[in-house]
Amino acid sequence: CAKKDLAGLRVVVTAGPTHEYIDPVRYISNPSSGKMGYAVARAAWQRGAEVTLITGPSTLTRPAGIKVVETVSADDMYEACMKASEEADVIVKAAAVGDYKAANRAEQKIKRGGAQEFTLELVQNRDIAAALGRRKRPGQVLVGFAAETQNVLENAQRKMAEKNLDIIVSNDVLAQGAGFAVDTNVITILERGAEPARFSGTKEEAADRLLDAVAALTAKR
Ligand code: PMT
Repeated sequence: CAKKDLAGLRVVVTAGPTHEYIDPVRYISNPSSGKMGYAVARAAWQRGAEVTLITGPSTLTRPAGIKVVETVSADDMYEACMKASEEADVIVKAAAVGDYKAANRAEQKIKRGGAQEFTLELVQNRDIAAALGRRKRPGQVLVGFAAETQNVLENAQRKMAEKNLDIIVSNDVLAQGAGFAVDTNVITILERGAEPARFSGTKEEAADRLLDAVAALTAKR
C-alpha cells in the first residue's frame, strides 16, 4: 500500500485473546489468534501511522517497526489501554477480551479431589472499550469490533451506542471463512450516518477497508 494517509497519527490497536488464570496452571480464554488485530496494526504502520500494538497472548510473530505491549489478562489490557489512550488519535479494539475472570485466583494448583462437581465463581471484567468511550477526547476516533453469533448488526449497533464508539466492525463469527483464527473475515463496517458496508476477504484486506473508513473520519476532524 503506497498511500501514507495515516501519517502523523498515533494509532493504538489491541489484538488477541486474554488469559484469565484460575490457578497457576489453568486459564479461561477464547480462540482469538491475534490475526485480525495484527493485520490492522501492520496496515496502519504501512499507511504511515505511529502504531502501538497491545497484544494478548498470541503465537504470531511481533511485527517489526511497531511498539508492542505484551499483556495476559483483561486487567493488564485495561491498564495498557488507559495509558496508551492518552496519546492516541485512533484506537482500534480488535482483541477478544475475556468478559469474566475468577473471583478468587488460587495461589496453588487446584486439586482434583473426590468431588464430582466443581463450581467456579466468576466476576465480570471491566469493559475496556466502554471506559475508553467515556474518556474519549474530542477528535479521538474509537473503533470496536463485535463478535456476534446472532442478530449480528443489531447487537453491533447497540454496542457502538453503549460504548460511545465511532465505528464498529461487526463480525459474524459463525459465518464460513470468518472470525477466530482463520486468515479471512466477513465484516460489516458500521458508522454513524453511513450505510453499513459489508466486506469479505483476507484479514489484510479487511484491515485496509477499515482503515479507509478511519482515514476518512480523521480527515473530517
Ligand atoms: O484474533 P483472530 O483469530 O484474528 O480473530 C478475530 C476476532 C474474531 C477476535 C475479531 O475480529 C473480533 O471480532 N474481535 C472482538 C471480539 C470481542 O471481544 O467482541 P465483543 O463483541 O465481545 O466485544 C465488543 C468490543 O468490546 C470489542 O471491541 C472488545 O475488544 C471490547 N471489549 C469487550 C469486553 C471487555 N471486557 N472489554 C472490551 O474492551
